[in-house]
Amino acid sequence: MNAKRRILVTAALPYANGSIHLGHMLEYIQTDIWTRFQRARGHEVWFAWADDAHGTPIMLHAEKQGKKPEDLIGEMHAEHERDFLDFGLSHDNFSSTHSQANKTMVERIWQGLKDSGAVHSRTIERFFDPQREMFLPDRFIRGQCPKCGAADQYGDSCEVCGATYEPTELVEPRSMVSGATPVMKKTDHWFVSLETFRHSLADWVRSGALQEEVANKLQEWFGERLRDWDVTRDAPYFGFRIPGESDKYFYVWLDAPVGYLGSFSEICAREGMDLEEWLAPGTDTEMHHFIGKDIIYFHCLFWPAMLEGAGIRRPTGVYAHGFLTVNGAKMSKSRGTFIKARTWLDELHPDYLRYYFAAKLGPGLADIDLNLEDFRARVNADMVGKLINIASRSAGFIHKFGAGRLADQLPDPALYQRFTAAHETIAADFEQRNFQAAVRRIMALADEANRYIDEHKPWLMAREDGRADEVLAVCTQGINLFRVMMTWLAPVIPATARAAESFLNVSLADFDSIHQPLLGHRIEKFKPLLTRVETDQVERILTASRANLESEDDVSEDPEEQLGLAPEIAFPAFAAVDLRVARISAAEEVAGADKLLRLELDLGGPTRQVFAGIRGHYDPADLVGRLTVMVANLAPRKMRFGVSEGMVLAASGEDDKPWLLSPDSGAKPGMKIN
Ligand code: 2FM
Ligand code: ZN
Repeated sequence: MNAKRRILVTAALPYANGSIHLGHMLEYIQTDIWTRFQRARGHEVWFAWADDAHGTPIMLHAEKQGKKPEDLIGEMHAEHERDFLDFGLSHDNFSSTHSQANKTMVERIWQGLKDSGAVHSRTIERFFDPQREMFLPDRFIRGQCPKCGAADQYGDSCEVCGATYEPTELVEPRSMVSGATPVMKKTDHWFVSLETFRHSLADWVRSGALQEEVANKLQEWFGERLRDWDVTRDAPYFGFRIPGESDKYFYVWLDAPVGYLGSFSEICAREGMDLEEWLAPGTDTEMHHFIGKDIIYFHCLFWPAMLEGAGIRRPTGVYAHGFLTVNGAKMSKSRGTFIKARTWLDELHPDYLRYYFAAKLGPGLADIDLNLEDFRARVNADMVGKLINIASRSAGFIHKFGAGRLADQLPDPALYQRFTAAHETIAADFEQRNFQAAVRRIMALADEANRYIDEHKPWLMAREDGRADEVLAVCTQGINLFRVMMTWLAPVIPATARAAESFLNVSLADFDSIHQPLLGHRIEKFKPLLTRVETDQVERILTASRANLESEDDVSEDPEEQLGLAPEIAFPAFAAVDLRVARISAAEEVAGADKLLRLELDLGGPTRQVFAGIRGHYDPADLVGRLTVMVANLAPRKMRFGVSEGMVLAASGEDDKPWLLSPDSGAKPGMKIN
């Protein structure tokens, strides 16, 4: 093992105005696995992060809920932290960017930047909402796209044609806060000139701190002049006031990354560590940031520039990951795939998701798909079928034939050595964040362990007299292989590893302890560590996620979401519905049912009786002779008034008024619709 390293790890800070969802969890789980791995290698590791608490959206969100922003972020902080702990995250401090420690750090960095001559103030013009008397962030202005004319587009980009532009270019702009037409207004803002840092940034980018694809992207950005960064926001704003100014605040993206150090400084105070040792340029301590690929610019340009300007060390590594998709598509509230962390935890053990994410995460920026059917199949096959199975097949015999004590020798030391020979490769996979490769190797070894047990069939030997020692030996081998694999997987599935520790009576916290097998050692009775994931658990997560949508007041920005579309279906499901043109040959009110009409539908030969909930909206006499569309193969339903043998199609709006569908004239009863 290498010398002991001193490592600070961070994950990107979640905004304090919304719940944590699985997209967030992908990154936090990635960060946590790496953190736990480094600890298991014996290094000094601190995982510090916080809620990202400032900015206009949080201010307005609090206002809408009739709360003070401090109260909103306090509530969100508690909710976030509960989610994180229940997902097994092992952070050392989860703070807030709205903390005294962060304010101190922001002011220190700001002063350093000023002293280095990299900031200047100038007068600019910005959109101002004359009604609310506030300057508007780009995202709070909408209007017509200047390029394609699409209505209702954001101030910075068009979702229809993809164009990006300045908010001043929007046609007929309006404020999302009050609906008023914004006006241009002058204001003095502070800027950081990134050009000052061009050369040192370029060196850092090539220093190996970044993934190659990220470094290449940055080289492209360096091809042009780096634009000055506007770090000021005018009151009203929820943030830290800029020292020496009365109504100007630091932009949320300035104090957010500083939050990593603000949070870490709280750890240093708590643990009696010297923060300055970690901050000094040239320090041999390490600082690693895990982020999403959408915030590379902030972490690879703005953040190192700020650090450099303030005379603070730069990050050792910044690692970007791809986005999470669910069932192959962007997470969607109406499909039920916008899954909150809590919704998951209500149904399923966190280690299932941790394992699945690990099995898919590589060192690059590729998006990760959580395919729920693949997820279920994979965790059942790997975690339950392969891994846990080795222990469950072996443990009983250790108690039956050895009174819970493992044999004094391994019957197949060569097999054990094949496992330990993979150790450094697996450690290197973890180090390089190639969890996918580590999991693949470990599962290939799990197959080998299961094959070993299959070949020796302890359950058969156990029935023969005089073979107790052999059974004990084979099962001792099995338990030892299980223990090695659980040690490797402990950073991935920590709760399961803890349960395995109780069963094995041994700590799994030291990655390198596996070289010494467990012999003559007492283990406890086996209790199932994990059970299979069932389809209905996954279904319930989707159903609950759809229900969350209905109970929430935040209206989605996605036009598909606004329509509230039903979950996607495959073509065969659609093709199975037999839609036909039908002529209404009779229509009458149903006695005792205020909403129903009884219709007789002619399908060009066969007829069907259908009870339709359209009474009161149509006069039955007007309906007779009219063409409509029906589902002809719906299973008959027995109702109080008779059997309904299908369904007519009608649209409905908010007032519940039905609009019966009819084909264009000329269509004939019985025609198939496809
Ligand atoms: O994109 C986001 O969700 C930001 N809240 C991330 C901030 S990361 C860091 F800079 F604080
Ligand atoms: Zn457009």
